[in-house]
Amino acid sequence: MEPMTRRSALTLGGVGAAFVLAGGAGLVSVWSTRSEPGSSRTTGTEVLQPALIRSTNGALDVTLTAAASAVVIGGTTVNAFTYNGSVPGPTLLVRPGDTLSVTMTNQLDDPTNLHTHGLHVSPKGSGDNVFRRIDAGATAEYRYEIPLDHPPGVFWYHPHHHGMAAQQVFAGLYGAIIVDDTAQIPATVERVLIVSDVTFDAFGTIPVASQMDRMRGREGTTVLLNGQVNPTIAAHPGERERWRIVNACTSRYLDLRLDGQALQLLGNDSGRFGSPRDVDSLSLMPGSRADVLVTMAGGTSVLQALPVDRGSSAGMMGGGTPSGSSITLATLNVAGAVAAPLARAPGSDPRDLRSESLDGERTLTLAMGGAGMGGSMMRFTIDGRAFDPGRIDQSVAAGTIEEWTIVNTSSMDHPFHLHVWPMQVIEVGDQVVDEPTWQDVVNVPARSSSRVRIAFEDFTGTSVYHCHILDHEDNGMMGVISVG
Ligand code: C2O
Ligand code: CU
Ligand code: CU
Repeated sequence: MEPMTRRSALTLGGVGAAFVLAGGAGLVSVWSTRSEPGSSRTTGTEVLQPALIRSTNGALDVTLTAAASAVVIGGTTVNAFTYNGSVPGPTLLVRPGDTLSVTMTNQLDDPTNLHTHGLHVSPKGSGDNVFRRIDAGATAEYRYEIPLDHPPGVFWYHPHHHGMAAQQVFAGLYGAIIVDDTAQIPATVERVLIVSDVTFDAFGTIPVASQMDRMRGREGTTVLLNGQVNPTIAAHPGERERWRIVNACTSRYLDLRLDGQALQLLGNDSGRFGSPRDVDSLSLMPGSRADVLVTMAGGTSVLQALPVDRGSSAGMMGGGTPSGSSITLATLNVAGAVAAPLARAPGSDPRDLRSESLDGERTLTLAMGGAGMGGSMMRFTIDGRAFDPGRIDQSVAAGTIEEWTIVNTSSMDHPFHLHVWPMQVIEVGDQVVDEPTWQDVVNVPARSSSRVRIAFEDFTGTSVYHCHILDHEDNGMMGVISVG
């Protein structure tokens, strides 16, 4: 952790150009927009922001091109996969009621597609339909009608072509989607911080994962924040920054710390808590997000990812948890004039499905097993079956509320993810969750179970649920749900 010596004269986190968010009450909230990641970057530079593309007049039309491109990561030129040439791809900022239209061009050598992780939108047709496939060289149109009552939150997009999702995300295909708040959240600077991990060799080649890595879930040897290695963040004491953090790692769980700073969590994946929660760590499974306020205290702090024990795969030689030490993601330097305090962030009144009547219950069982001799692949299943896009595994009546118990018989944790319909977390392992908490990824600890409630409302159609360790998903730990 080298101390930051370059005290730049730039204010507000080194904002080159600034967007002023439309705000009532004369509040000026600024998106940090310093440059774009993924060009010539070295260790120790200021944190960059992905390009911010925002909707106007209820519409956001954007072109995303997936391609192999050279990007500089920690001083090495890496042959990564990029959306629009950068890692991460651009941030898409929309509001409830908007229509998001994406023209997706595939310049990769393999099929891909697009998924808007966490958005409560239709899974049909050209919506959030992960059964579509965009062949190499092809272009496809996606259109997402975001409901007027869509919860605010941090979402993200990434490829979801079965069998290739892990490699394509690992190589750099991810970007943030923000559904803006209708309520005012006072903050001086807003940033998107995407955590990802990648492995590359001295020639900048990202290797194909070994079979062992695919069973365990690959973890990259380099952990990035907005495509950078340990960038710096500069702020003034008293400022309140809003960080929207995405765990875009293929398999890595994050236990984030920012010791010395006050963190308030507004919400996880989607929606807001009843009131902001004071926290001293952020626990993010692969695919999870946090929307957090940081009130700056003077001095230097380090954003760290502590090692997480996510279990091991029984029967795998040398497949234990990488113990490792904590990883430095960014260095925060807080100095200068003290900023005026801001008003308290508002909470919300989240729905609590525990006070509504249940229409049904079901149990899903995640399992790993049957690793054959001679290095054949272990089976990754839900209810004993590997993914088959032509088979419907769960038929749910539209408009009903169900409780799902997700059982994990394996010796590893699995982050369970459901598309389209968010889940209210009731219990994780033996921990009961009292406050209404809505997530689209919920951890299912090894040899344990978790319980969620889901309102299958607003949309019908066919979609998927799966383990968000993307190697496990690619290996078959995914099922098909039909709501109608
Ligand atoms: Cu982020 Cu089905 O995935
Ligand atoms: Cu998803
Ligand atoms: Cu898994």
